[in-house]
Amino acid sequence: SQLEEMSLPLYFGWFLLSSIQDKIRCTSMDFLKTLDTLEAFKKHSIDFTGKAEKEVDLEQYFKAKGTLHCTTKYCDYGKAEGAKEYAQKPAVTDFYGSAFEMSLSALFVTPRTFGARVSLTEEQLLLWPDDAEKEAASAVPAAASLPLGSRAHVTLGCAEGIEPVQTGLDLLQIVALQQEGQQGELVEEMELGSLTYYGEGRWLISLREPICAPACFSSSYK
Ligand code: A2P
Repeated sequence: SQLEEMSLPLYFGWFLLSSIQDKIRCTSMDFLKTLDTLEAFKKHSIDFTGKAEKEVDLEQYFKAKGTLHCTTKYCDYGKAEGAKEYAQKPAVTDFYGSAFEMSLSALFVTPRTFGARVSLTEEQLLLWPDDAEKEAASAVPAAASLPLGSRAHVTLGCAEGIEPVQTGLDLLQIVALQQEGQQGELVEEMELGSLTYYGEGRWLISLREPICAPACFSSSYK
């Protein structure tokens, strides 16, 4: 019934506490500021601008997308496949409202999205949908064979006209390349970590010290 559908949220996920959101925004903005000044980045800026040699201001390029969170299940108020089953999983009802420590292990930038990779613990994987990666296979064919949790991320910003669902797909592309043994091009050791270029405007910095982010497992209706 319509009433039952209304009782399911837009999505479930881990919502980062506001103090750590501020810290992550600072760290990630500093990273963007540094990245777009690197010669190696400028060399490939055509991926972002469509024009060779044209400078790009990444801080302006990406628009923030509301409160920082790591989506577990997109339910679309019950319209998404498997939404009801997910909402009824024992782990989901048991952990609803509980506190977690999320580990942000990398930041990545593509011409479409800016995000943070989230490395899930065994316990956190209990809340991860079994089909989260498989579901992305039409967009990223290799995704179906990637380990559970490969898609886990926090969207930090999107380019004009891009929806946040793209961030997880961009991450899956990079993880697929890593799994295929493509090392990427190690560009620079930065204070934050090692910066790697994966081609086609895809950049990833593996954080020397992962960011530990307290978060609440909950849902959003808006
Ligand atoms: P993300 O988790 O990458 O941030 P929207 O505002 O577009 O309705 O999306 C609400 C949240 O659900 C966003 O956080 C978004 O992306 C995520 N999301 C949207 N669509 C999907 C989808 N089809 N699959 C997985 N997550 C989605």
